[in-house]
Amino acid sequence: MAGRTYVVTGSASGIGAATTALLRERGAKVIGCDLGDADIEADLSTPEGRQELVHQVSAYGPIDAVLAIAGGGKTGLLETNYFGAVATLEGLRPLLARSEAPRAVAVSSTSSLAPVDERVVRACLDGDEAAAVAHVAAEPSIGGTAGAYGIAKRALNRWVRRVAPTPPWAGAGIALNVVASGVVDTPAASWIFAGDEVRTAVESAAPQPFGGFPGRPEWVGELICWLAGADNRFVTGQVIFADGGAEAALIGDRHWH
Ligand SMILES: NC(=O)c1ccc[n+]([C@@H]2O[C@H](COP(=O)([O-])OP(=O)(O)OC[C@H]3O[C@@H](n4cnc5c(N)ncnc54)[C@H](O)[C@@H]3O)[C@@H](O)[C@H]2O)c1
Repeated sequence: MAGRTYVVTGSASGIGAATTALLRERGAKVIGCDLGDADIEADLSTPEGRQELVHQVSAYGPIDAVLAIAGGGKTGLLETNYFGAVATLEGLRPLLARSEAPRAVAVSSTSSLAPVDERVVRACLDGDEAAAVAHVAAEPSIGGTAGAYGIAKRALNRWVRRVAPTPPWAGAGIALNVVASGVVDTPAASWIFAGDEVRTAVESAAPQPFGGFPGRPEWVGELICWLAGADNRFVTGQVIFADGGAEAALIGDRHWH
């Protein structure tokens, strides 16, 4: 990682901060982006903030990896977790393509496994932010258990699966993967631990038999670092769950039937 430059969104807290710390410890240069307390302060839930990110990163010079980690519920759920992440990856792709070992990672969630309203997922994948946001605003119960957050993360998984093997990404030598996190101990997840009832409900809905509940943000960060490193020469288009076994416990061998 030494000598490589990483753009990390959501660098001020949680998984983004843990990943930034791991990268810096290992000699990488990190350009952090967040709402505050970062090298680049930009709100990725807005078109202006997304443009500002690309504009400011361009001024830093060459980059080797983009880690789209910013997310959660501080700003619009679809706007941040889907459209902000996709704009980060698409907007920085041309700069990334100049690296000798370009890599990109988006962070999703086990919430992407929850039932979703397909109309909203489709509007996301069509790039129609206004329509996606309008669907959710018109019908707040739209997304089932995980709401608009789960929809945004499902769409993000699907977007990566679609674009990763295409010429602009794999064809340009860029690995693009998703790390889907289970529940880890960060400020964004603190609502889960506020009371025993919620904690027990979340844990029984998505048990994490390996590593425990909650996991640690740096455990997710380790996987992000490997996928975004030059040693990753053969893995792209994957949605990899760093979740203590929750996805395996919920889905079992269904993908392989
Ligand atoms: N903590 C968990 O249990 C968990 C589980 C699954 C997925 N995730 C995902 O992991 C990622 C990191 O979350 P975390 O748990 O570390 O949360 P966190 O709140 O600790 O960190 C998220 C960071 O993203 C930044 N951010 C949020 N909205 C932004 C915006 N519009 N523009 C720029 N920056 C913005 C926040 O300011 C914060 O610093 C998110 O994508 C989240 O959805 C977390």
